[in-house]
Amino acid sequence: MEVVVLADADEVARVAADRVVAAIRRRRSAVVGLATGSSPLGIYARLAGLVEAGGLDVTQVTGFALDEYVGLPADHPESYASVIRRTVTGPLGLDPARVHVPDGGAADLAAAAEAYERAIAAAGGVDVQILGIGANGHIGFNEPTSSLSSRTRVKTLAPRTRADNARFFATPDEVPTHCLTQGLGTILEARELVLVAHGETKAEAVAAAVEGPLGSMCPASVLQLHPRAGVYVDEAAASRLRLVEYYRHTWAHKPEWQRS
Ligand code: F6R
Repeated sequence: MEVVVLADADEVARVAADRVVAAIRRRRSAVVGLATGSSPLGIYARLAGLVEAGGLDVTQVTGFALDEYVGLPADHPESYASVIRRTVTGPLGLDPARVHVPDGGAADLAAAAEAYERAIAAAGGVDVQILGIGANGHIGFNEPTSSLSSRTRVKTLAPRTRADNARFFATPDEVPTHCLTQGLGTILEARELVLVAHGETKAEAVAAAVEGPLGSMCPASVLQLHPRAGVYVDEAAASRLRLVEYYRHTWAHKPEWQRS
């Protein structure tokens, strides 16, 4: 796993966006896995800036969101379908038909989950998956004790996750209790993983994911199984890492040919 400790959230976004840009430049029709939440917003803003400046062609890119709330109307401003439209599809000028979000409003959620898995497979799998991390170590909405080989399915949101996401809703009670999320096994099939985190509230989860034992108590620790996983964190999110000097040394000495 590559662990890169950077000065601040802007640097995290810059370096992580470079990974995504490299994947799109390697393959114009790249399939990009999209996280929602605050963490990846800087990446999307950078990508949008590059597109606007004519430095990045995303016309052939396909996107798959990680997750969606169950029970919110798709046009609710905090549904992930709306969030993805607002923060990714619109700013990057992506064709909406190429950007997929699990159907959290489906009458048959199990069937919707299976359909989502089939859609990812039909697109040829995800080339680069952008990830945030929950303060409890979740990725997607794979809460602690999620199976490490889980597939897209319905999950019950942990109380901690509902509390953390209450900032997006008028009252905490409005945060949905359930979601559809790609599984850890689904996420692991992406060809490259790019996880970003900033702020002290993520420090414990980042340390557990990177240096803790592999296990379902910290779902993000599943990145340890992936051959091409990068973790990009600011100083605050890195503050509980024991090998922080080693990560700095490794980044400072990374050969140029490995940087793209
Ligand atoms: C959202 C998602 C979640 C978030 C995580 C961190 O699609 O997959 O795992 O990445 O909850 O959220 P923020 O970035 O808002 O702190």
